[in-house]
Amino acid sequence: MKFKHQHILSTKQFDKNDLLAFFEVVKKMEKVVEEAVKEGKQSKLCEGKILATLFYEPSTRTRFSFETAMLRLGGRVISNFDMLKTSSATKMETLYDTGKVISQMANVIVMRHPEVGSTEKMAKGSNVPVINAGDGSGEHPTQALLDLYTIWKSHGRIDGLTIGMIGDLKNGRVPHSQCSLLKHFGCKFIFVSPVGLKMPSEITAELRACGCEVVETEDLAEVIHDMDVICMTRIQKERFANDEEYGKYAGSYVLDCEMMNLAKKDSIVLHPLPRVDEISSEVDDDPRAKYFEQVKNGVAVRMALICEVFGIKV
Ligand code: NCD
Repeated sequence: MKFKHQHILSTKQFDKNDLLAFFEVVKKMEKVVEEAVKEGKQSKLCEGKILATLFYEPSTRTRFSFETAMLRLGGRVISNFDMLKTSSATKMETLYDTGKVISQMANVIVMRHPEVGSTEKMAKGSNVPVINAGDGSGEHPTQALLDLYTIWKSHGRIDGLTIGMIGDLKNGRVPHSQCSLLKHFGCKFIFVSPVGLKMPSEITAELRACGCEVVETEDLAEVIHDMDVICMTRIQKERFANDEEYGKYAGSYVLDCEMMNLAKKDSIVLHPLPRVDEISSEVDDDPRAKYFEQVKNGVAVRMALICEVFGIKV
């Protein structure tokens, strides 16, 4: 695979063949986890290696998921989940220098930061692979990888599916990264957002240039019947100038059982989580709801990624 031994900073690094080959590795990782849970068998694939998680923005799933992944592989973890307040960032250390420093100690760095492009700055300084766990409203490649894996597993394919993305498509790094991967599969895209939070035009233009059909609307009820995959997202409160601005969009879309009655019987619902109010908890029992399964898939996806950057064959 092309991305072996490299930083993982952007979904642009992956083509269709990489992705399909990668999904096969993830399947093997699911087995590794199963053996650990059922038979208490500890993998030694990353024995002796250390993963550092440097988080300059809040996280629940992504950080725990990477740390669980490394522990499942028999490696160890060092972590700072509050880098902005408790690291040398407070003394104006640059990301480049932090990369230089941490890579003297850890074998791989996973970082999240509020600034677009920040992971590249750290990668420039680092002598070990850096993995982007979210750079502001830019990208979230590992989340998109686990989303595509979940689609592939549920539908048995990605080619030609109709993908709905609903919510804050302007600020959401997850839909941005999802588009960048899904463009390889000839999907049809239905973007549902308030007018002020539309998918950036560079992204819709790129999808069209790849031959994908793109539909944009504000009305979910009108288009949900056409979707094979319903990707809900949160209005990204932290990207708005103030509460008043956020208030204009809060609660724009709610997926409840009534709305799900309009959806295809074999569609699936994804959400990177956390959710605010955009998926009502009554939908959790619908077999089409895959957002907690996504979390489980995320660990296997990150195990596969960690092995890939080390060039470890599974
Ligand atoms: C997402 C993120 O941080 O971009 N969460 C996650 O990593 N699972 C989505 C979000 O915060 O809305």
